[in-house]
Amino acid sequence: MILVLVVPEKNIKNVVAIKRKGNMLLIKNISKINMLICLILLTALTSCKKNKDNESKNKIDTKGNSMQKIQPKTIFSFFGAPGSGKGTLAEQAVEKFGFLSLSTGDLLRENISKGTQIGKKVKDFLDSGQLVPDELVTDMVQNWLIEKKETGKSIILDGFPRTKEQTQNLIDIINENLPEYKLRVIALDIPEEEILARLTGRRICSNKECKAVFNISEPGIKDGGKCPKCGGTLIIRQDDKPEVIKDRFDVYKKNETEILDFYKSAGKNIETLDISKLNKEEVFDKFNNIL
Ligand code: AP5
Ligand code: MG
Repeated sequence: MILVLVVPEKNIKNVVAIKRKGNMLLIKNISKINMLICLILLTALTSCKKNKDNESKNKIDTKGNSMQKIQPKTIFSFFGAPGSGKGTLAEQAVEKFGFLSLSTGDLLRENISKGTQIGKKVKDFLDSGQLVPDELVTDMVQNWLIEKKETGKSIILDGFPRTKEQTQNLIDIINENLPEYKLRVIALDIPEEEILARLTGRRICSNKECKAVFNISEPGIKDGGKCPKCGGTLIIRQDDKPEVIKDRFDVYKKNETEILDFYKSAGKNIETLDISKLNKEEVFDKFNNIL
């Protein structure tokens, strides 16, 4: 940015001295009429820049650089079967829009790997593909939401709620603690056959700060390979064994209708994205289009 300092001097009409000092432009010996023109031009330039800044905040740039999308404070609940792509879409929205995201699965796995009390309690549930108790996961989500609401950013809940009780809990948490936030339920709809192939091919980054998700169908992704984002080692998730995948899917199916019916009875609209056969970028575009 360059600051312009206009210094009028009496009795000198047409001699104008312009000097640059660091990021300051010094215009000396200027007549009153020229000074007026300068000030009008400056005001016009400043307002033009402001408009341009505001416009660009509403767009994702073509290189996909990070940008906060202007919109009301929103909590997006990503609802979908195991492997439907909740985590992948959340990761893209975090990178491109600056949203915050909480994956309850990631948070639970982090507790297990750190050996916390919570981790010890939930390990068997995750290893067998069963849901952890409602109260435990609701407390974790509530604490996280209360901590993050100060940022004013839009938030993604990846994999919460997953039971009728958790759904009621989320509605209560928002009403009591985050009334300025609007809840939007985004259901990712994809056939079971596509999911099975995805989960057996999933590889995740073992670096806790990264946790990026890939698939061996993608170029350069292989067992024991390196994460393209941070160089961490790629590993198979503990619950991506065929028998556990089946149990996780059964658990999802058992709760799916009950949750969707509950939302409907509470007057909540469910925004379903049909993402069958769509690649990651196409899924992201579909989400971007409904924002
Ligand atoms: P969680 O970690 O949430 O697992 P999940 O629900 O089974 O979902 P996944 O993470 O497996 O799939 P995803 O939808 O995120 O898909 P992803 O983007 O990775 O939960 C694990 C466990 O924690 C639960 O079983 C339970 O025990 C516990 N838990 C968690 N939340 C709980 C709660 N609320 N209550 C109680 N218990 C809870 O994609 C999958 C693969 O597909 C990847 O390889 C990816 O690269 C690929 N992919 C993604 N999108 C595309 C695309 N468009 N095209 C092609 N490939 C794609
Ligand atoms: Mg996930």
